[in-house]
Amino acid sequence: MCAAPAAELGITLSVLAEAPDASAALVIPSAPVGAHGDVDAVLAFAAECDVVTFDHEHVPADVLAALAEAGAVMHPTPQALVFAQDKLEMRERLTALGVPCPRWARALTVDEVTAFGDEVGWPVVAKTPRGGYDGKGVRVVASGEELHDWLDRASAEDSPLLLEEKVPFTREIAVLLARSPSGQAAAWPVVETVQTDGICTEVIAPAPDLDPDLAARATEAGLRIAGELGVTGVLAVEMFELPGGEFVVNELAMRPHNSGHWSMDGAVTGQFEQHLRAVLDLPLGSPRPRHPWTVMGNVLGGHHTELYPAYRHVMARDPEIKAHLYGKGVRPGRKIGHVNVSGDSLTDLRARARHAADYIEGAVTE
Ligand SMILES: Nc1ncnc2c1ncn2[C@@H]1O[C@H](COP(=O)(O)OP(=O)(O)O)[C@@H](O)[C@H]1O
Ligand SMILES: [Mg+2]
Repeated sequence: MCAAPAAELGITLSVLAEAPDASAALVIPSAPVGAHGDVDAVLAFAAECDVVTFDHEHVPADVLAALAEAGAVMHPTPQALVFAQDKLEMRERLTALGVPCPRWARALTVDEVTAFGDEVGWPVVAKTPRGGYDGKGVRVVASGEELHDWLDRASAEDSPLLLEEKVPFTREIAVLLARSPSGQAAAWPVVETVQTDGICTEVIAPAPDLDPDLAARATEAGLRIAGELGVTGVLAVEMFELPGGEFVVNELAMRPHNSGHWSMDGAVTGQFEQHLRAVLDLPLGSPRPRHPWTVMGNVLGGHHTELYPAYRHVMARDPEIKAHLYGKGVRPGRKIGHVNVSGDSLTDLRARARHAADYIEGAVTE
């Protein structure tokens, strides 16, 4: 998704691709193949780049350290990235900064889980600190025993789980912003993210009926986190809105994020362009929305293995729909694309985005 803005700006983008047919390798001419955990492959790749950035959180610490040792310029830096890689590091740091978080604890044993659940109330949410996405690595449990398999592994590896109180949120919102190495920052409007079974399915920009004071406080918290952690590039701060106009932070992502896909079509500057501008320390573009509302609907892997034939119907039915497909293999529930649609009537836009995404997936046939 960075390929189009890079081409428009005349910036040479290279990708270290996991396979010759990886989606990014299909659209980026410079795409050497190598694993993100392979130090030699990553070093050889970085030697050809002015700036290295990341499209996921999973590059291991030893690889990042080798890159730093070799003098590679990284944005975000490994010092910042760790707070998006490891949810325990994130909780510890945000708590120290006084940023509102769910009550949380570390746990290696059933007794520790029991003590935490008895204190904050059951059920509790357990998370593997590293490597999770789309709800993989998140479990809601009503007792410590239910976690024994994860705890066995956690104690064997001496790497505690993160426990959180189950937050009675009214909805999920996200603050998305970009920050450059010079310290310039620009935030898009706060959005509502709708998750189904731990997977984001819809984003509404801006979040409907959000109290302006809460929006301002959430955005300030995002900007403060970016500044204190030294984040460079795009930062997404997932939050839970609580009854009574409060919020707590769920987690951080330091890259273009699902909650910002709407901006590709709905804002003056989309998140993929903004990420490039930020990591290159160029002045940031305006994050201003172009329309009263933009709705993003995720396309998840479903019935269709070939998505292209759906274009004929979707494009003819609604010429204002913007479809973005990732060229990924179709697996059930996998995020394989999204649609955006902007305008004045939110109810209408939500229905149109859902229909288009459903039709592309194959969940509806007319
Ligand atoms: N403490 C919590 N209380 C209530 N729901 C939660 C909590 N933590 C996570 N969730 C739910 O699970 C989803 C996925 O959790 P998250 O930590 O964001 O993991 P992932 O890395 O898979 O996105 C969240 O979007 C939210 O719907
Ligand atoms: Mg999340």
